[in-house]
Amino acid sequence: MNELERAIKLIKNDDIVAMPTETVYGLAGSIYSPRAIHKIFATKERPFFDPLIVHVSSIEMAKDLSSDWNELCSALAEKFWPGPLTIVLKKKDHINELITSGLDSVGIRMPNHPLALELISKTNCPLAAPSANKFKKVSPTSKAHVISEFGNDVFVLDGDDCEIGIESTVISIQKNNILIYRPGMITKDMLEDSLKAFNVKCSYASSPVAPGQLEHHYMPSIPIILLWDCEIDSNSIDPKLLISPYIWGIENNPTAVARQLYARFREAQELCHSSIIIKLSKEFKDLDSFHGILNRLSKAKSLEFIG
Ligand code: TXA
Ligand code: MG
Repeated sequence: MNELERAIKLIKNDDIVAMPTETVYGLAGSIYSPRAIHKIFATKERPFFDPLIVHVSSIEMAKDLSSDWNELCSALAEKFWPGPLTIVLKKKDHINELITSGLDSVGIRMPNHPLALELISKTNCPLAAPSANKFKKVSPTSKAHVISEFGNDVFVLDGDDCEIGIESTVISIQKNNILIYRPGMITKDMLEDSLKAFNVKCSYASSPVAPGQLEHHYMPSIPIILLWDCEIDSNSIDPKLLISPYIWGIENNPTAVARQLYARFREAQELCHSSIIIKLSKEFKDLDSFHGILNRLSKAKSLEFIG
């Protein structure tokens, strides 16, 4: 039996599997299996108020889950699926409320990874999957990362390192307005560009943007210090943090930064550095392409200094 066949068998047997996607690895279970859904929450130690994204392998499958799929959704799906865009839609009754945390909406996306797509299509089952990490911790972008979270408790379908590296953009559609709940590598400009024919506006949802969008999230076990166009002011921080810092100067290459972000957090943690110092430019704040990355950094940081 190869790895994919083993994963299919586990899903069909009401179990869970760590599934590669192009964003981050997910902890996947059938939406039709209450046992698997409970196991996802228990394994992640995730509170029930944080809804799960449902992953599909076709647009037909997405339509079967939502009651308000419209032309706009078709345009978005044609442009961005398979890919890192989650669309929140009105849910159909057959979706277990545990998945949606009791909301009447469900987040749906088609991941751009051949193994994920095969797993979904061969089980013929939409898969609920949060990122495969303990609650609030750093999302995994490789098989080794998932193993460091859960040891041998979870079977990991190995799909190599994730291409994108940060979680999908989450949006909802409200009449002629698209609300971005969680920014990602599919940006506001990209969404607006793709919907020119529809006369829609796109904006960021105000805080708290969505259930599960907590202020502190994605945090490694060592503190992250952001330096915006400045050097560290050693008088104003605990000297212990500066004993052996991991220093990363971020360049204006958002694709490469996103791909490395979580792997760097984990590397610094494993090498027992005293802190992670990230040097970056204030100019990035005005770049649409950096929005998702800066969102993750602001949730992961403990301190920042602005020049
Ligand atoms: O890239 C991704 O999205 C990854 C991969 C595995 O697909 N998944 C992921 O899942 O990041 P998770 O559970 O770590 O984050 C899902 C977030 C929730 O915390 C919530 O903010 C939002 O998506 N979400 C899901 N369903 C929602 C809903 N019905 N309404 C509002 N927000 C929702
Ligand atoms: Mg997550």
